[in-house]
Amino acid sequence: MNLPSLLRRPSRTQLLALTAAFVFAASSSFSIAQTTTATKAPVAATHTAAPWWKHALIYEIYPRSFQDSNGDGMGDLNGITQRLDYLQSLGIDAIWIAPMYPSPQVDFGYDISDYENVDPQYGTLADMERLIAQGKKHNVRVILDMVLNHTSDKHQWFIDSASSRTNPKHDWYVWNDGLPADGPNVTAFQKRFEHEGRVPPNNWVSLFGGSAWEWVPAVHQFYYHEFYKQQPDLNWRNPAVEKAAFDAMRFWLDRGVAGFRLDAIPTLFEDPQLRNEPETGGTNAQGDPNVSDIYTNNLPEVHDVIRRMRAMADSYPGNRVLIGETYLPNIAALDKWYGGAKHNELQLPMDMQVGFTNKLDPALFRQRINDAETKISGNQPLFVFDNHDNVRSWDRYGDGHTQQEKQSIARIVATMLLTTRATALTYYGAEIGMVTSTPTRVEDVKDPIGITGWPKEKGRDGERTPMQWDDSLNAGFSTAATTWLPVPDNYKTLNVKAESADPDSLLNWHKKLIAMRRNNPTMLDGQTIMLDESNNAVLSYVRKGVAGHPAVLVALNFTATPQTITLDPKSAGITGKSVGTILTDAPSLKQASSLTLTLPPFASWIGTIN
Ligand code: NOJ
Repeated sequence: MNLPSLLRRPSRTQLLALTAAFVFAASSSFSIAQTTTATKAPVAATHTAAPWWKHALIYEIYPRSFQDSNGDGMGDLNGITQRLDYLQSLGIDAIWIAPMYPSPQVDFGYDISDYENVDPQYGTLADMERLIAQGKKHNVRVILDMVLNHTSDKHQWFIDSASSRTNPKHDWYVWNDGLPADGPNVTAFQKRFEHEGRVPPNNWVSLFGGSAWEWVPAVHQFYYHEFYKQQPDLNWRNPAVEKAAFDAMRFWLDRGVAGFRLDAIPTLFEDPQLRNEPETGGTNAQGDPNVSDIYTNNLPEVHDVIRRMRAMADSYPGNRVLIGETYLPNIAALDKWYGGAKHNELQLPMDMQVGFTNKLDPALFRQRINDAETKISGNQPLFVFDNHDNVRSWDRYGDGHTQQEKQSIARIVATMLLTTRATALTYYGAEIGMVTSTPTRVEDVKDPIGITGWPKEKGRDGERTPMQWDDSLNAGFSTAATTWLPVPDNYKTLNVKAESADPDSLLNWHKKLIAMRRNNPTMLDGQTIMLDESNNAVLSYVRKGVAGHPAVLVALNFTATPQTITLDPKSAGITGKSVGTILTDAPSLKQASSLTLTLPPFASWIGTIN
């Protein structure tokens, strides 16, 4: 699945034809000039004053799929703890764990039934406390996923709310009497959801299909659900909801989590008048009319909540961070989520404009990276190319290319993620080039939207398959006879162990980039300035030197043909003459020492200029 598509962005099918099986080309021709390893060397002293998240690499873990410690075929918290050495050796600063709270698992944890505990299938509260403590020893902070837009319908709050109109919790969710089914202006879509002579109050469509309103006979009302009907939306206009949600956050902040990734945070509020959304034409995978989201997404009221939430997070020591799942239409909308020049909302709303261009187009990346550098009021960008809702970047950018080209393109993606000034967010498996492995038969699909949307929408299982650690049973993920999702066939050669042993692997490319970024003040803080701005084949930029350290140049060939470029860092005010290569996957560029370079197809080159 492609979540941006759910959020009314281009559909997954528009983005790519789904993945073919991939065999890792272990003996590639890639050569990496730099050989440093990604140990956790301390960041240069002048930069330690910045909050940790400013220079961080954050790694998203889908807990069902990372490491199974008890042989039940599903990942768990103790499994994550077992893999802390790996995470540390990779050089990551924090893990974001997708929801591990008690949940009926309709949406695999994004339907929380208790905010203050751990689902037994993932372990216990004590396991989480141990993970936080062990993480600290490994310099790996723990960030939790906080789902505030909705709860599970099995949360006691909702059970109470749905029990009667007079229950004190009734107003904790968004209820409405609906309209008479034979009333004026009722659409055919609304009529499909008629109950006891009433239809939903408007044409709002759930992002997961069908009406966004569900009838509850006991109260004779509909409740609103942006996602599955088992995920009723909380009513954020009720101050008691905010208090309960903040209390849940405090529960975890008190236990030492480093912050939260805020799920679906722009959709906390809905239009109080419940106006019909304008129809945008056509139908979605489930056959419902496509509608806009102007009355259900990114309403201005949400910012008051976020400012209060930020003040709460700031009341804790240690720079607790608030990260937003913010699919937004443009950079100006993103800036608002920081609080603009006031810097008083989220520290890191995700910039989805850069990582999800889904097109190898230098001009697009140039513009969007530049926007992030110049149009967010001095706030800190957060780039992300992969997560548990989208086809993996390996496929989104590599589709239609040869295996060797895909390898190179994955290096380009990693280079863009790790060589700008942005905080970086990656997703388990991206570092080894895990491939989207979408089920080929509907009976194998686990993600409910893949079942209701089949075959147009095949769900998100493909990007959630078990982590591939080695070539043993189930790729070292689990000792169970079967795992919750199958381990992709390519695990025998595509795994952490094999790539660790191969100096030219994608994993080692990541490690070198991460080490370079960690140890070089220019990489940490140097301004990013675009070069050669009319070039439609090569993306190049310079990071301005910091604290006496030389500037860094980056050049990426986005095409299948060699490209000769002459970089002109003077245009960015950089006057040095002596050029040296720091890192490249092109053997011919290892010794490059001139501003004129011939980049082989899809080559990445990083150099310095003094
Ligand atoms: C966004 C999450 O990333 C996705 O996995 C989930 O289904 C929805 N929000 C609903 O919580």
